[in-house]
Amino acid sequence: MIVLTEIKDVREHLRAERFAAAKEGRELQIGFVPTMGYLHEGHASLLRSARMDNDLVVLSIFVNPIQFGPNEDFDRYPRDSDKDMALAKREGVDIVFLPSVDEMYPQPTKTRILVSELTDHLCGATRPGHFDGVTTVVGKLLHIVAPHRAYFGQKDAQQVAVVTQMVIDLNMDVEIVPCPIVREEDGLALSSRNVYLTPEERQAALVLSRSLRQAEQMAREREGATVAHILQELVRTIESEPAASLDYAEIRSFPSLASLPGSMRAKEAEGKLLIAIAVKFGTTRLIDNVILTMEGEK
Ligand code: PAJ
Repeated sequence: MIVLTEIKDVREHLRAERFAAAKEGRELQIGFVPTMGYLHEGHASLLRSARMDNDLVVLSIFVNPIQFGPNEDFDRYPRDSDKDMALAKREGVDIVFLPSVDEMYPQPTKTRILVSELTDHLCGATRPGHFDGVTTVVGKLLHIVAPHRAYFGQKDAQQVAVVTQMVIDLNMDVEIVPCPIVREEDGLALSSRNVYLTPEERQAALVLSRSLRQAEQMAREREGATVAHILQELVRTIESEPAASLDYAEIRSFPSLASLPGSMRAKEAEGKLLIAIAVKFGTTRLIDNVILTMEGEK
């Protein structure tokens, strides 16, 4: 495994690898996993998928300042380079790209990639500018690495929808591969931010997966359950946890993120339904979701 900190070295190294493969008459398949580090089994699952599908796996670790709001946790975002390197090695990563902020943004950027509409609601509403920061950095990273496939977790379902739209709209020659949410045994979705939780908040945070499981069950099993009913139950369950402070709970179609009429029965929905929540525990904001495939029963 090699660790590179400069863009030109990543480009040079990948060019040499591509050239060597081409000389043997094959096209080198490159898989890319962008992250902000403090790696856990959720990240590991993306690396494993990338390892299975490709000849060469590139991991980037970069805490991207432009996707954090002024009152967010950029400065205290958890970092542990040694642990990250050990996990990357264990998962068979070939190249780790570990740029500094100066390397990625040598001067203030005057160019942004902005995906409209999809970024107006859910996390985009609570975190203005967040997704512009995500698409700008992911666009830059995709240009630098030029992978065949890039892997993203459904944990950040809106991020998957937004990045997929960007790739389509800008004709980027890369396949976006969504990967399932990895959870702790008790249901909590893995997140680098879980480390912020006190033991009491960690316990309270189980309300996320519990309320989503209930919502899923209601949508699948209760005949007349409407979107409004399910949301009402979801909010009630979250609010029954005293340590939880609700940011949003929404049901939308996926990946269009179009809103659904409250009076619509969940069973009537056709295609994918996203049930997404964001909840604060103390100062820590956590998100979780479930995506259901519905058959459009009349
Ligand atoms: P980060 O939060 O480090 O996440 C990197 C990738 O890991 C994302 O695609 C995320 O959805 C995925 N991931 C995180 N937790 C997961 C879990 N429990 N199960 C499955 N996948 C999980 O997302 C970002 O970084 C940044 O926005 C980034 C895309 C790197 C741009 O800066």
